[in-house]
Amino acid sequence: MTTTYAVLSEGLQKHFGPVHALRGLDLAVAEGTVCGLLGPNGTGKTTAVRLLTTLLRPDGGSARIAGHDLVREAAAVRRRIGVTGQYASVDGDLTGRENLRLFARLHRVRGPAARADELLERFGLAEVADRRASVYSGGMRRGLDLAASLVRRPDVLFLDEPTTGLDPAGRSRVWQAVRDLKADGTTVLLTTQYLEEADQLADEIALMDRGRVAHSGSPAELKALIGSYAEAVVADGEALPRAAAVLDRLTGCEPVFDHERHAVGALTTDPTLTLPRLVRELDTAGVPLLDASLRPPTLDDVFLRLTGQIADSEELVA
Ligand SMILES: Nc1ncnc2c1ncn2[C@@H]1O[C@H](COP(=O)(O)OP(=O)(O)O)[C@@H](O)[C@H]1O
Ligand SMILES: [Mg+2]
Repeated sequence: MTTTYAVLSEGLQKHFGPVHALRGLDLAVAEGTVCGLLGPNGTGKTTAVRLLTTLLRPDGGSARIAGHDLVREAAAVRRRIGVTGQYASVDGDLTGRENLRLFARLHRVRGPAARADELLERFGLAEVADRRASVYSGGMRRGLDLAASLVRRPDVLFLDEPTTGLDPAGRSRVWQAVRDLKADGTTVLLTTQYLEEADQLADEIALMDRGRVAHSGSPAELKALIGSYAEAVVADGEALPRAAAVLDRLTGCEPVFDHERHAVGALTTDPTLTLPRLVRELDTAGVPLLDASLRPPTLDDVFLRLTGQIADSEELVA
């Protein structure tokens, strides 16, 4: 079976004066899947979305979106895609209902009123449909923005940080919307700084590092790349360095301390390092062990290991 790609880019480049925002973006998103473009601030996620949605022209490289050449067939690309940016596109002076009807009419959707109502319902906005969008909460506003991008039933939807700044309820509504879209066969490319979000939603994750994709794969594949996390919790904080020395020797990886929990851990890809062996080695070294574990890495571990950058999303959201 051959895979059809809804988004296929090769070596996309973009400069802003001296800033090399994209340094050769290679991306392949299979039709009907969700791709998570993951990376901290400034790695080029928004630039990638703006290029792939024809809002910016690439300085180099090429891409096909839904089978159309990004540059030569830009109009055809635009007809097939929807995009929700970091900045809202809805008009605050209009009500939610008016906004969606306007979009539907602009895009010559059949039955604009019914389509607007259907989307208002889907995003839990029916009750506030006749209030001006300017009084909506952040979550409602994001929902309306997302609804607006879906008016035309795009084949490929681009979402730039769709949940940044949302409360947990708003975030889970967006997540559900993405799952529904995928179930309907829509291809979704979303950018995020939230590792958990990529883990939850994406079939494939493209890990961005300074303007290009550093690694890509399913969440499980990315985690497998870096192995597991071995950890020891000791009874006495003074034993931490000894436990660390054991972990260092067993994993060949620099141990990380958690002094509050009296814990020390390190990443390992060594398949012979089992939990019994870990316990035995610590025991032999006379470490007063309270607990030991060998767990799959989180995407945080993956990010840190593969890009050398701290990916703590909470710190990155200004
Ligand atoms: N219009 C612009 N003019 C100048 N520099 C820009 C512009 N847009 C983005 N950049 C720079 O390009 C880099 C990537 O930015 P961006 O794509 O917004 O990253 P992200 O969305 O991952 O935070 C950053 O260094 C940013 O400052
Ligand atoms: Mg951005």
